[in-house]
Amino acid sequence: MNILRVGDSAWAAVTKSSAFVFGLEAAGEDSRVVQWYWGPRLPDEALAEVVRQAPRRIHSGFHDPRDVDELLPVEGGARWGVPSLQVTYEGGVRSVELTFAEAVVSDSEIELVLRDPLGLRVGLHVRVASEVVERWVSLTNEGEHAVRLGRVDSGSWVIPERAGYRYTGVAGAWAQETQLHRAELAVGETTFTSRTGTTSHRANPWIMIDAGDATEELGEVWSVALAWSGSWRLTAQRRPEGDVAVTAGFGHDGPTWHLAPGESLLTPPVLGLRTCGGYGAASRAWHDYARHHVLPTPFEERPVLYNSWEATWFDVHEEGQIELARRAADLGVELFVVDDGWFGGRVDDRRGLGDWWPNPDRFPRGLSKLFDTVRELGMRAGLWVEPEMVNPDSDLYREHPDWVLHYPGRRRDTLRHQLVLNYGRADVREWAIGWLSGLVSEYGLDYFKWDMNRSFTQAGWPDAGERADLLWIEHTRGVYAVLDTLRERHPGLRIESCSGGGGRVDFGILRRTDEVWTSDNTDARDRQAIQEGYSYLYPACAMSAWVTDSPNPHTRREVPLAYRFHMAMAGALGIGGDLTRWSAEELEQARSLVAAYKAVRPVIQHGRLHRLAGDPGITASAVQYSHEDRVVVLAYNPFALAKRPPRRVRLAGLDPSAIYESAEGERWHGQTLMSHGLELPTWFIAGPDYRSEMVVLRRVSG
Ligand code: GLA
Repeated sequence: MNILRVGDSAWAAVTKSSAFVFGLEAAGEDSRVVQWYWGPRLPDEALAEVVRQAPRRIHSGFHDPRDVDELLPVEGGARWGVPSLQVTYEGGVRSVELTFAEAVVSDSEIELVLRDPLGLRVGLHVRVASEVVERWVSLTNEGEHAVRLGRVDSGSWVIPERAGYRYTGVAGAWAQETQLHRAELAVGETTFTSRTGTTSHRANPWIMIDAGDATEELGEVWSVALAWSGSWRLTAQRRPEGDVAVTAGFGHDGPTWHLAPGESLLTPPVLGLRTCGGYGAASRAWHDYARHHVLPTPFEERPVLYNSWEATWFDVHEEGQIELARRAADLGVELFVVDDGWFGGRVDDRRGLGDWWPNPDRFPRGLSKLFDTVRELGMRAGLWVEPEMVNPDSDLYREHPDWVLHYPGRRRDTLRHQLVLNYGRADVREWAIGWLSGLVSEYGLDYFKWDMNRSFTQAGWPDAGERADLLWIEHTRGVYAVLDTLRERHPGLRIESCSGGGGRVDFGILRRTDEVWTSDNTDARDRQAIQEGYSYLYPACAMSAWVTDSPNPHTRREVPLAYRFHMAMAGALGIGGDLTRWSAEELEQARSLVAAYKAVRPVIQHGRLHRLAGDPGITASAVQYSHEDRVVVLAYNPFALAKRPPRRVRLAGLDPSAIYESAEGERWHGQTLMSHGLELPTWFIAGPDYRSEMVVLRRVSG
């Protein structure tokens, strides 16, 4: 039982280590459903102690906002904070007035039903999944007139009162995704948002808040994340009165949604997680949640893949691909993925998107010869696709110019020479399922890299009339539906989510994909910060990471092969370099590093992550994965003596009294490794730039 009744109309959503207590503080025509407590798990009999059923009064009452502590503050009545729900009824009435109707409770889920006499039914849903409390909202128009919805968030969370507040989040840009930001939460409203129609590179839909005292290993942290892959908005509100609330939901400022009589709208889940044990414990709990409640294939080992993009760019031919496939197989690669350039008239980025058949000049025999060879070489077969896009220079666009997002009489701005297909349309979705499923069947494909390379502009849906703005939701749902159908039809198919690198990484897309492409930036040093930011929420098994050439094609930085490997080995290892130009020694070294990775793959992909000391990419740093009786430490030192690294790295999360043994037979107590640290070789400390090391320990007793 995860939902406990703790009062007349009070409930607690309990996890193993935390409790979220909420309920009805004031009934009647301006009902208040509030959060009373979000903290460590209390004994069941103590849960009622946090319930306060008299409305909160701060001062005299005449200026007191009613939205303090509410689960879904509405626009209406004495509420002046950020509304989580805005509705405009017939005649321009913008005041939502909710009366509590009933609670529908089961062991693991509760729905609190509220009704506005103007005809709106609002369901507040709460469910527990591992350490995470999932919340969402359902709206049904039970009235006789259409309503227009502004902000419809999935829920608001109150961060308990503390002396200070600090937030952690990630923001970035193309090739610079998931850069960690940590700062005091300013008084006022701090909003992270995407207006791109996708999750976006600019920010990722989550925030962590602590009292300013958390470290990597210590302290209470409250996190809120949204499981959604379209535009979104998350606002952390630090009121002048001192309290903090975080509201998050799909959509962004501007678009409004039409709900006709009888229609319903369901928000994506917003996820709340309260942990103790610093940012590290928060991340591990998120990874756990991803494994047990999000990813479709969490416990499968991700294959070592080869992707030809950086080797060939658009210069994709049967012969060249076969040559790369032979070399990749020789290194121990298990999945060969052909990237952009194999289809239609796609010889550069100006044409071809939408024409999903093999380019007859480049693949005169179709893709069968290539993929038969890939299979003979013992590898699985994968293909890059960008199903939401079309180039104006394509047969598809010539035939269906109305399929793209557009407004009649307005420009259709192209980005990377392409336009966005409207996945809100059933005909577009059917078309996509048809050819995607056809490719899987024809070539027995095992893998799609599903890309999405541009943001929305002129996001109109002329046929949809009043409902046009719904495309911001319906496009994403349409993509989800196509992905879900494909997986259903082809249970063996695995899918990687990509969006110009890491532009679509979130718990919504991870529900139907197996990996995400973290960034187009494959420079091993830049990757350190990108991978660190990624690791705050998402697990290593889903973090696609490639070893590419040196100098790196994006940054021209030269980094030794071992360092590039060790960086990519911290996730789902791939190789993306031009193997025809690697020397015999490099190929030999790569072969042994691939083998080393495979030997520890379950530890890295399924293990518990500890980010050890260091500032990734700037100073020496290390990550540790522990799984069953094994521990893998990947240590990196990007610079020579100028930034002298510590001589030892202190491990974390070990059994203090157990004995751990290295491959060379050296033994230590867990406590020694955690308190004194693991000594790193001298060459790691004093040597040229970019030194890295992988240490594997096995627990041998205790
Ligand atoms: C995007 C992806 C890359 C590659 C190219 C192909 O930029 O992020 O990995 O697939 O598209 O055009």
